[in-house]
Amino acid sequence: MTIELTRDVTGPATDTLSLTAAPTTDAALLAWVRGTAELTQPDEVVWCDGSPAEFERLTDLMVATGTLIRLDPVLRPNSFLARSAPTDVARVESRTFIASHRREDAGPTNNWREPGALREELHGVFAGSMRGRTMYVVPFSMGPVGGPISQLGVQVTDSPYAVVSMGVMTRMGAQALAAIEAGAPWVPAVHSVGFPLVDAIGRVRPDVPWPCNDLKYIAHFPESREIWSFGSGYGGNALLGKKCFALRIASAMGRQEGWLAEHMLLLKVTSPEQRVFHLAAAFPSACGKTNLAMLRPTIPGWQVETIGDDIAWMRPDPEGRLRAINPEAGFFGVAPGTGWATNPTAMEMLSENVIFTNVALTDDGDVWWEGMTEQAPQHLIDWQGRDWTPDSGRPAAHPNARFTVAASQCPSIADDIDDPAGVPVDAILFGGRRRSNVPLVTQAADWSAGVFLGASISSEQTAAAEGTVGELRHDPFAMLPFAGYDMADYFGHWLSMQDRLEELPLVFGVNWFRRGDDGRFLWPGFGENSRVLEWICRRVEGTAGAHETPLGLVPTADGLTLDGLDVPAADLEELFRVDPAAWSAELDRLETYFARFGDKLPAQIGRDVERVRAGLREQRWTA
Ligand code: GDP
Ligand code: PGA
Ligand code: MN
Ligand code: MN
Repeated sequence: MTIELTRDVTGPATDTLSLTAAPTTDAALLAWVRGTAELTQPDEVVWCDGSPAEFERLTDLMVATGTLIRLDPVLRPNSFLARSAPTDVARVESRTFIASHRREDAGPTNNWREPGALREELHGVFAGSMRGRTMYVVPFSMGPVGGPISQLGVQVTDSPYAVVSMGVMTRMGAQALAAIEAGAPWVPAVHSVGFPLVDAIGRVRPDVPWPCNDLKYIAHFPESREIWSFGSGYGGNALLGKKCFALRIASAMGRQEGWLAEHMLLLKVTSPEQRVFHLAAAFPSACGKTNLAMLRPTIPGWQVETIGDDIAWMRPDPEGRLRAINPEAGFFGVAPGTGWATNPTAMEMLSENVIFTNVALTDDGDVWWEGMTEQAPQHLIDWQGRDWTPDSGRPAAHPNARFTVAASQCPSIADDIDDPAGVPVDAILFGGRRRSNVPLVTQAADWSAGVFLGASISSEQTAAAEGTVGELRHDPFAMLPFAGYDMADYFGHWLSMQDRLEELPLVFGVNWFRRGDDGRFLWPGFGENSRVLEWICRRVEGTAGAHETPLGLVPTADGLTLDGLDVPAADLEELFRVDPAAWSAELDRLETYFARFGDKLPAQIGRDVERVRAGLREQRWTA
């Protein structure tokens, strides 16, 4: 549906925008769309319905404008490659803002802005930012439409790439709009790539394949529940249902309303005895969520199904159990490292209907990235459109290259993804990318120790955000870039779940990334992680042994199934080794970090640091 703006592009924003063609009479929605169009001054407004015809029309349009390259229809049916601007390849944490009235409500880990001042700045950059472009209105639901844990939103955007991606990643279109019209609350989200085609005095400039702006704002108003994103077309900055809504705004909503919005995958594990377990796991970006969510067990009799790979919303149900949904409908996954050897499920899922971003193009019109096959093709066009050969000395795909694909295409997807009530969570895993210190798996003795485990995640930085790859940084609950309020209050909120739940999930720490002195990974990871999942499920069931260490409970000698595993005994020992001196230094680092939160840090977290210290001093080993 299209609405023509009766406007002189050279004039000020005095247009009377006719919304008679809009597919809704919802006054609040119409007023917001009208106001946003008056500010950003697009040539036209298009309401999106999420239909296959719309997807086809928009992808055709983007092929024509050069934003998308259509891949070979036989090798990769209905699939596309987008190459972003080289400066617009990841989330921009330095330009991500939380605007709360009181600075302390954003906390020391967020970039705080005073809401009034930020609003004024945004007004400045959004004024006329869509000139010469189409503004798309995208109604969407996070979670099954109308579900008790689900939420609604509307994104307006001048990026057709964002529209089709939101169509894959959320339940977008008519059903969500109907729920909004029925009176359900919704979160407004405004997105502009910040590259108007007509300037304030009417001069026209040509479009580029990936429009964006060096100036970026990823702005959140958790108190009024609004999102404003400017200057980037990249996933986490531009698909506003994902990180902006489902994590930053939703985490703040969850705190007010007694639930949790988390950077977690969700999976369903079935034991050989047909007992079903549901696990949630938080790892920082590019630290293994998508892979674990799609794992193929290497141990006989166990089955793993995927529910979500990035975000979980979890709420106490009337029986006092924690119930989780995946609010998304698609996967926005890291391509490099995804191959038949490591993640065959993802490879099958990617056989058609995929939007790839910043991977390499093969000579026969297909895609390639590092890790897809052992041997690189002899010639490629790299992610920046340049010729590439194996001795080019640079990666062919950007390390944060991504695929966008519907969850329904995942061969291991569980029916539960469409269950509005969600699944009961039996265990929660916390992990990071740690070359040393952190054992393969530990179990927290109780909920408080589990919260401490989550709060103490550190991880080597990856290409998923700007910054130096490999540098160790604290990333509590893998939520450092995503908590929409003060991180110490967030720890407190997690502790308070104890009082809201009758049955608490068990909590575990895991680390697939420990390395030997020679730099190689000690643990084979991927499908072999099923051995760790087995122990976790057996702990939930109460049938697996464990012994105590200062860091928590670890498997007894016969606790992990090791049949058919090709890991030397020395490596296995190293995977669980706790070096008291290194851990003492680790705790010093943690204490310094926690000190940033001042009086707001829950006392329990301090007590947990002391508990681990005391354990290390006493060498409380029962092995
Ligand atoms: P996500 O961003 O948290 O979803 O992480 P992904 O699952 O996309 O994985 C990010 C990177 O880590 C990819 O290059 C994977 O190949 C790699 N990775 C994932 N799981 C493992 C594992 O168990 N062991 C090792 N060594 N690498 C892994
Ligand atoms: P990831 O999701 O966790 O799969 O990397 C995107 C991100 O967190 O930037
Ligand atoms: Mn993520
Ligand atoms: Mn992922």
